[in-house]
Amino acid sequence: MLILQITRYLKHRIKQIRVQNCLNNFQKNALIGTDFMTELGAGIQNESGEKWRINIGNNTKIMGHLVCKKSGLISIGDYTWIEEQVSIQCLTNITIGRFCGIAAGCLITDNNNHPVGVEDRIAHRIRVAPCGPGYPGSGNGWEISDSAPVVIGDAVWICGNSTILKGVTIGDGAIVARGSVVTKDVEPYTIVAGNPAKKVKDLSKPLESIHNIAEKIIENVGSRL
Ligand SMILES: CC(C)(COP(=O)(O)OP(=O)(O)OC[C@H]1O[C@@H](n2cnc3c(N)ncnc32)[C@H](O)[C@@H]1OP(=O)(O)O)[C@@H](O)C(=O)NCCC(=O)NCCS
Repeated sequence: MLILQITRYLKHRIKQIRVQNCLNNFQKNALIGTDFMTELGAGIQNESGEKWRINIGNNTKIMGHLVCKKSGLISIGDYTWIEEQVSIQCLTNITIGRFCGIAAGCLITDNNNHPVGVEDRIAHRIRVAPCGPGYPGSGNGWEISDSAPVVIGDAVWICGNSTILKGVTIGDGAIVARGSVVTKDVEPYTIVAGNPAKKVKDLSKPLESIHNIAEKIIENVGSRL
């Protein structure tokens, strides 16, 4: 019985330490607001080492993985929740607004990861081959690929296993249905679905601004704490 209790305690302590390491890693690599949470399996890679290139707001939870190349800028707004196995891959600029939900397994990328031209792809493969000058590591594939900023508005819900590709702007209040591949801009307060994602529904636009709605809810929740 005692051995079981000790084992449980040790497992719990090891988990706590590993979560703390994750948290330290986020704090080392990004400017983070108050009440931030992360979980085991989350990660952050800031290749410039400049914390200001990754800005994470207040009351956010990130369980996914952020990669920010040297020239990249990532911004994540207050009250945004990013689930496990989400991959955010930034070469140029990825902005995610407030009150967003990014469900498990999504990919948000502002670049193609690899060049499109065949000569460039062969050169890249040779450079990152096991005996190539760019090995180990991912080489410079991202840097020589096409890139354009991604902007995700406020109160956007991106359902599980969706992909947001370079250059896309998603308007406030929009929803990306499960398993979609978004290649073009999404209008505010609409639902898009499919591959490539197309509008499937209009959502009613709230009478008040997202900011006002949120302020009222926060005030109300606060009074009930
Ligand atoms: C976004 C979502 C919530 C919208 O639900 P809804 O408002 O009830 O939408 P509907 O079921 O009325 O679908 C509207 C249309 O879009 C289509 N559609 C809905 N989701 C789709 C999808 N993921 N891919 C392709 N088409 C889809 C429907 O077939 C329907 O087409 P039709 O008008 O030709 O019949 C829902 O589509 C969805 O993705 N649910 C999964 C949420 C999820 O991933 N949860 C876990 C993580 S948070």
